[in-house]
Amino acid sequence: HPQLTLDVQCGLMMEGVPLSAIADEVGTPCWVMSAGTLRARAQRLSGAMMQAGLSVSSHFAVKANDHLAILKILAKAGLGADVVSAGELLRARRAGIPASRIVFSGVGKTEAELRLALAEGIAQVNVESAEELEILSALAVECRREMTVLLRVNPDVDAGTHAKITTGVAGNKFGVPWDEALALYRHAAGLPGIRAAGYAMHIGSQILAAAPFRAAYARLAALVRATREAGLAVSAVDCGGGLGICYRDEGEGSPDVWAGVIRAELGDLDVRLAIEPGRWIAAPAGVLLSTVVLRKAVTGEAPFIVLDAAMNDLLRPSLYDAWHGIVPLSPRDAVAAAETATIVGPVCESGDTFAQERVLPRLERGARVAVLDTGAYGAVMSSTYNARPLAAEVLVDGGRWSVIRPRQSVEALWAGETIPDWIKHPA
Ligand code: LLP
Repeated sequence: HPQLTLDVQCGLMMEGVPLSAIADEVGTPCWVMSAGTLRARAQRLSGAMMQAGLSVSSHFAVKANDHLAILKILAKAGLGADVVSAGELLRARRAGIPASRIVFSGVGKTEAELRLALAEGIAQVNVESAEELEILSALAVECRREMTVLLRVNPDVDAGTHAKITTGVAGNKFGVPWDEALALYRHAAGLPGIRAAGYAMHIGSQILAAAPFRAAYARLAALVRATREAGLAVSAVDCGGGLGICYRDEGEGSPDVWAGVIRAELGDLDVRLAIEPGRWIAAPAGVLLSTVVLRKAVTGEAPFIVLDAAMNDLLRPSLYDAWHGIVPLSPRDAVAAAETATIVGPVCESGDTFAQERVLPRLERGARVAVLDTGAYGAVMSSTYNARPLAAEVLVDGGRWSVIRPRQSVEALWAGETIPDWIKHPA
């Protein structure tokens, strides 16, 4: 974690800012993002594509982190946006990302969402079914617009990641089956209001090996060639996202290897290439700060360390058994020798567990920790379950820092709720 340094006195620092100072002022739980890390990783990724001799347009997967400030930083670093809802589309526009740099993915875009995409004039819609194709074509004709369409194909390649984040095997809901794609593309090419430009693919997330990418892109290339042999034009290929990061000791997915595979499999096709990275850019840029509420001793077993952050803040450990590093914020947060403990949140679910029997420096009541690599699929997946307000968000940028979303108030949780009169004053 090059953005995180350890100072003997101040403890964990992000871009030179002691994280304990942020925790002091803002309180916990609190998300902290490093702008410098976002820029560096965005640059590293485009650098790798360039090095491989590729001209690739990069669309940040907004679902990974949709905060306006984060989107603005990435927009300034030259990224467009991959969105999956009207909300994400409008967020991206609000952050200043031009419509011409926005692509729209997703298996169930509503009519209203497609109308919005047409009205905004976004770059492309990645269509996932025959049904969606018909709906989009009809709407485009009605709106007197033309939309560039890429057909998302399901290559039936196992990305080898967690079942809940694998998207490119037959039988899951994403994309058009590989062997039906050409026929549907031919159909699309004849439909009014849309311009069939090529194919899109996204096989899953947290992919560390080259093999799944290679297998999927090889199938994609074969499809492009077959489509051209059938007399149809193909001018664009969207490679999706999926490059993984190192949460524990698994090693980080390499942008150079990814770029090399794209180059080898798709580089000679003479198409506009695009990628949709999310996690690789944003995850290592963020941490979640939390305070130990109490220690709960269990006779004969590892003690429970109960944090003030919970699964409603960071869902990944509960939902995917994901491993996140947990480190004390400063030397005074970890005074005693290591012990084995189970780190949990206070939410009323057994699944609200951040780390099962983890060896950590002994954490006393009041000690503060950083949960690492939470810049992607962290704050965006939060809920207010157990009436827990959304945590504050902070941005650090080269020694400066600023709250970019204050902690939600408890009152805000019920703002907008009404109690009907007939409940309040029964006749
Ligand atoms: N493009 C499409 C069409 C996607 O569905 C996704 C992610 C991406 C791009 C970006 O993938 P990335 O580069 O971030 O791997 N919540 C899960 C991850 C779900 C990913 C869903 N799709 C997690 O926390 O692991």
